[in-house]
Amino acid sequence: MNSEKRIAELREILQDHNYRYYVMDDPTIADGEYDSLLRELQSLERENPKLVTSDSPTQRVGSHPVSEFGTIKHRIPMLSLANAMNEAELVAFDGRIQKGLDQESVIYMAEPKLDGLGVELVYENGIFIHGSTRGDGFTGEDITHNLKTIRGIPLSLRTNDLPAPPLLEIRGEVFIRKNDFKDLNEKQELNEKSAFANPRNAAAGSLRQLDPTITAERPLSIYCYEAGMINGVEFVDHASFLDSLKKWGLPVNPFIKIVTGSKGLTQFHQELEDRRNDLPYEIDGTVFKVNNYNKRDDLGTRSRSPRWAIAGKFKAQQATTVIHDIDIQVGRTGALTPVAKLEPVYIAGVTVTNATLHNQDEIIRKDIRIGDTVLIERAGDVIPKVMKVIKEKRPNWTKPFQIPSACPVCQHETHRPEGEVILRCGNISCPRQIKGRIQHFASKLALDIDGLGEKIVDQLVNEDLIQSIDDLFVLKQDTLEKLDRLGEKSAENLVEAISNSKDTTFARFIYALGIRNVGEHIAKVLEKQYSGNLTEFQNTTVEDLEAIDEIGPIVAETVIQFWSDDSNKKMVQNCLDYGVRFADVEVNLHQPFAGQTFVFTGSLQQLTRKEAKDILEDLGGKASGAVSEKTDFVIAGSGAGSKLKKASDLGISILTEEEFFDKVKNA
Ligand code: IVH
Repeated sequence: MNSEKRIAELREILQDHNYRYYVMDDPTIADGEYDSLLRELQSLERENPKLVTSDSPTQRVGSHPVSEFGTIKHRIPMLSLANAMNEAELVAFDGRIQKGLDQESVIYMAEPKLDGLGVELVYENGIFIHGSTRGDGFTGEDITHNLKTIRGIPLSLRTNDLPAPPLLEIRGEVFIRKNDFKDLNEKQELNEKSAFANPRNAAAGSLRQLDPTITAERPLSIYCYEAGMINGVEFVDHASFLDSLKKWGLPVNPFIKIVTGSKGLTQFHQELEDRRNDLPYEIDGTVFKVNNYNKRDDLGTRSRSPRWAIAGKFKAQQATTVIHDIDIQVGRTGALTPVAKLEPVYIAGVTVTNATLHNQDEIIRKDIRIGDTVLIERAGDVIPKVMKVIKEKRPNWTKPFQIPSACPVCQHETHRPEGEVILRCGNISCPRQIKGRIQHFASKLALDIDGLGEKIVDQLVNEDLIQSIDDLFVLKQDTLEKLDRLGEKSAENLVEAISNSKDTTFARFIYALGIRNVGEHIAKVLEKQYSGNLTEFQNTTVEDLEAIDEIGPIVAETVIQFWSDDSNKKMVQNCLDYGVRFADVEVNLHQPFAGQTFVFTGSLQQLTRKEAKDILEDLGGKASGAVSEKTDFVIAGSGAGSKLKKASDLGISILTEEEFFDKVKNA
């Protein structure tokens, strides 16, 4: 047989084995045999480089590392799902669907809700062209090079049973199986790398590697569950769509099932919740979708989620364990948080060793003591909580727990500000506070300084190399090289990352300063208000701040307090002197609604309140919660009540949602 023929044959054999393994779950050869076929193909391709194609199974780790991710716009937005928190909400969902379709006994596709990362795969004429993360739903990151390393993703579609359409966009979830996760963490440990907290984090980290050879070593799986844009073939329902995916060689979760009516929803949900710990991967709920595609179209979508689907959330998982000790952690604002150190206990796929106890009041209310056996709950990604003490199991030596009155880090006196439940260390030079502030400054949503992790910050502060945020900008490579764990290359990268972080935005910088109560959103509000002018912001007054919609007296007070401290002013000035610069703030000069006040009432169909408000404010208008003489327009959604009446009593113009859109369009 000539090489060309053998190459074609080997590719087909390998594709067929992949199909059997990933789609049919019925492998017919051992891994070793598969590898030897792959090696044969590799050597033939090496001898005949002209015969290498991009969809050959040898090309999974073909590409070189990229220096950054490109972006890919989703032709059809990747929506998310509305949640049903309990069975009653699932039944209510079925009620809405029945009403919307004017039909009883609706047929749904029931699916497990995989706890991984949503991705989109694009096939053109059967060839995998590119793939991306969900991103913000409209634009994702181009992770083609990493997705190609996942063996469950066919590089070309199988066409034995069904021809490939010109365009096929598929959405699915990339995840890591529980046993693969265990192996992966063992391997991490062997290589002296830190363990991943859970399979989801490991999957996310693996997909965001710039170097695909790293991703290729991670045991990533995928199940496909939805369509993006498709040309050249039409499906009547979800069941036949998923069936075709399997024929094309795309893995589909074998646990999916057609169910009918609310009974079908609750039964499937209950069944899966009971079995969740026995499944080979983590799921965080169920997903129910109207099966018929015409009916989906009739129901339509809201701005963020389709009306025809819902995610059923599972109850938080619980376990009991013993509190060995209570640690006091000090945050970047000096807040003292008691944390229970637990006998390790496995809940919902992770080993839990810590649980927050919040504050002294909570400890007193639940009477939590060292030595107690407690009921722990973990829901999703949130920090585990102590629900209650199991008093029957309390040993007789326990005593009530009291948070010490001195800071456990710097021994400075603590105080409890009036009206607050949290104790705070009053020493702004407390090393733990300094570390916290610097970590916050460098974090993703702040200045996003890659490589400035907790261990490095610890060393920098402990060795007195930095005392304040602005000191970061004068760090030299040779200083950093002397730190543990930091080689020449990493030190160089870190200096560069710090330097690059100087090009930022006003909002990021304000958020990065860590002013109490000023989160990411408020920072953006401030950016808009002060058009990125820092001097104006520094000289603001309580009255000025409180006049801003969304800013109340608490935020106003902490902002003023921050600027009244000269050392803060000096630190910010130093940052600017070292080269921190803000990108221009885009202001919409077209403000046709300037000076006009709008009130929204009832529920809007096409936008959330927040979105409507954003549109309005962008055009200079103001949204208010109450109807008064000052109101110019009331937008009445469905179910509008007393505000509508008041508006008509006052003779104010009332618009429907559609009329509001027209007004926006014509503005
Ligand atoms: S369908 C318009 N099906 O859950 C419907 N999503 O909260 C879009 N997910 O971003 C998604 N398992 O990453 C769908 N069987 C499943 C799913 C699933 C997990 C994730 C997905 C999505 C998120 C929505």
